[in-house]
Parts: sequence; C-alpha cells; structure tokens
Amino acid sequence: MAKSEPAKSGPAVARHVAIIMDGNGRWAKKRHLPRALGHQRGVEAVRRVVRGARELGLEALTLYAFSTENWRRPEEEVSDLMSLMKRFILSDLDEFAAAGVRLKIIGDYKAFKPDVVELVEGAVARTAANTGTTLAVALNYGSQDEIARAATKAAEKGPITPETIAAELDTADLPPLDLLIRTSGEVRLSNFLLWQAAYAEMLFTDVLWPDFSVDHLREALEEFANRERRYGGR
Ligand code: FPP
Repeated sequence: MAKSEPAKSGPAVARHVAIIMDGNGRWAKKRHLPRALGHQRGVEAVRRVVRGARELGLEALTLYAFSTENWRRPEEEVSDLMSLMKRFILSDLDEFAAAGVRLKIIGDYKAFKPDVVELVEGAVARTAANTGTTLAVALNYGSQDEIARAATKAAEKGPITPETIAAELDTADLPPLDLLIRTSGEVRLSNFLLWQAAYAEMLFTDVLWPDFSVDHLREALEEFANRERRYGGR
C-alpha cells in the first residue's frame, strides 16, 4: 500500500469527513425568502454538524465555506457570508474551544478583509493546543490552487513525488479523507479536495444544506462503514 493511501480497508470507521455545503440559496428560494436567510440557516446546520462530529468521534471535519470562485457572487452576498462567518466565530468559539475542538483553516484566507483575518487567526491560535475533533474550514479555497502551492513548496525542497506534494498540502496534518459528502443533489467536486479525494468514498444527497442534520451525518457514516473499500486492489 502506498503511503498516501488510508491505512484501513473493509468495513471502517470514518476518521475524516468533508462536506460541500450546497443548497442554501435553493432552500431560501423554495420558501420565497432572501438568500441571506438560507446562508443564515446554513450556519445553524454548521453548528449542528460540528457538535455531531464531536459526539460521533470524528477526528476531522472539513467544511467548504468559501471557494475561490465564490468571489464572483454579488458583493452583497459575499459580504453577508463574511459577516456570518465572523458572527459564527464570535458566538460559537467559546463552546467549541471548551469542547476541545481545534480550528484550522485551509485555503488562502489572507485575501479576506483584515478584520476577518484577525478574527480567524485569533480563533485558530486559541484552539491550537486542543486535541479533540479538528474543524477545518475551507476559506478562499481551491484545490488546484492548493496543489500548485504544494508542488511549488515540494520542488523547493527536493524531488516531486505524490508523498512530497501530499506533505505540503493544507490538509497535511489531517487524517486521510474517508468520506466526501455533497448536499443539494449536485454531483461534482467543484475544485474541493481533489487530491485528498483520490481514495475517499463519495456521498451525494438531495438534502439541502440548511436541512442537513446530525441524523444525516450519522446515516452517512453508517453507509461509509458498509461500503467495501478496495484502494485499487482486490
Ligand atoms: C452553497 O449554497 C453554500 C455556500 C456558497 C456557502 C456555505 C456557507 C455557509 C453554510 C455559511 C458560512 C460557513 C461557516 C463555516 C460559518 P448556495 O448559495 O450555492 O446554494 P444554491 O446552490 O442553492 O444557490
């Protein structure tokens, strides 16, 4: 087995789950509500799922909160998303920090406004020594950009191999990705964790992100445990 492959095979307990949280806009549209409210409900789902991830014993949960492509959305929506993220940190950090959650950011978050960068860095520093579930939030994240950055760093240090690139990815300190979930019925990766998904199981659900519950997460983990993983072998 190559080093970059997960260590387990057969029925397995997921250690690292990632989620493409999609469908906030459609959730709001169905109810004739503003998109901003869909995102607001999306944050409530984030809160539930982070609590659930802790309770279910996940080592890492990676959430796609803002992609490099999301800058193309109307300025007002981008600003709404930034405010929501700030408010989320201000309102929930105490609880997560006390529960042993370690916050980590993947992606080029320094492109955000200085107040967001400062808040995010403070939250990361405050939880850095925690040893419970790692909550990795993807901010201004694009997988191709991440791989290009990792390959550049690897090349500066020596030969480029899958292992030397993997060691420079933003996720290098996380367990291998076991399960990638996308909500809202879209069936694509949208530049999220392309490298890390090489051996991950994929689960696409029609549930819109604001409706996603801990039960949905639990079901996804059960489905993962029931799938037989082969890593290209037999
Ligand atoms: C997709 O819905 C969702 C996003 C682009 C952003 C996800 C962000 C959050 C859930 C809130 C902030 C996150 C944290 C960690 C506090 P969409 O708008 O693309 O939905 P649509 O495809 O139905 O229009």
